[in-house]
Amino acid sequence: MHAPTTDLTDIRVRTATPEDGDTLVELISLVDLQLRAEDLPGALDPMRYALTDSDDGPLSHRRNHFLIAENGEGVPVGAIACGFAKWMSDRNRSPVIMRRKLVERISTVHGLAVVPAYRNQGIARTLLRHAEDTFRDAGYTVMTLRHDRSLTKFYGRLGYTSHNRLSMTLPTGELLSILDRGWKHAFKLLSPAAAITTVQGMPTITGALPD
Ligand SMILES: CC(C)(COP(=O)(O)OP(=O)(O)OC[C@H]1O[C@@H](n2cnc3c(N)ncnc32)[C@H](O)[C@@H]1OP(=O)(O)O)[C@@H](O)C(=O)NCCC(=O)NCCS
Repeated sequence: MHAPTTDLTDIRVRTATPEDGDTLVELISLVDLQLRAEDLPGALDPMRYALTDSDDGPLSHRRNHFLIAENGEGVPVGAIACGFAKWMSDRNRSPVIMRRKLVERISTVHGLAVVPAYRNQGIARTLLRHAEDTFRDAGYTVMTLRHDRSLTKFYGRLGYTSHNRLSMTLPTGELLSILDRGWKHAFKLLSPAAAITTVQGMPTITGALPD
């Protein structure tokens, strides 16, 4: 694609529609999902299904929020996909009793991508800020994500704290600790109700879930 220097004011961010299925999958496929080649083709299908969910918000698609960035000609140049994290519905990783609270207060970025010709112009930052604002307004307390080591600085500049584990104290007093080999976890507080403390040497989120 021709590489124009775009004025950020020319970029429009809009919520994705069911017709954006291919566009969204194509854009989010720019993320290295660290999957085996044979698992790749269907890996983003759940995103397509989620796009058909109702969008009577605060989020664009029930528990998911999908945004597309378009250039001045209406061509999609970036996307962000957020929703609940897989570990929230895994009984081996988080207590079942906490599931609803987790899903209603904590969101995760499943993918953030900008087409190469439009990178380094602030489009990813804009998409992330839009998504964070929406989740904050919807009462979410923390945004989380997993990222490749090479992006630690990138997310750090956007206000994210990165560590090997995602660590959080639950209202039950338990310590939730999520580890995914090969990834770093990052989080950003969206609400003054939540805070960061150090537990067992790890930056740990407290106060993210209501008692
Ligand atoms: C990572 C990615 C989304 C960044 O998109 P972008 O629109 O270029 O990002 P921005 O222009 O908003 O960048 C914001 C800042 O991060 C810096 N930055 C961008 N990409 C970076 C990278 N790969 N490593 C380190 N810093 C980076 C920019 O220079 C900019 O710095 P500044 O605020 O000091 O000017 C884009 O490179 C991409 O799509 N990569 C492939 C998919 C991917 O890896 N996604 C992230 C994992 S979910």
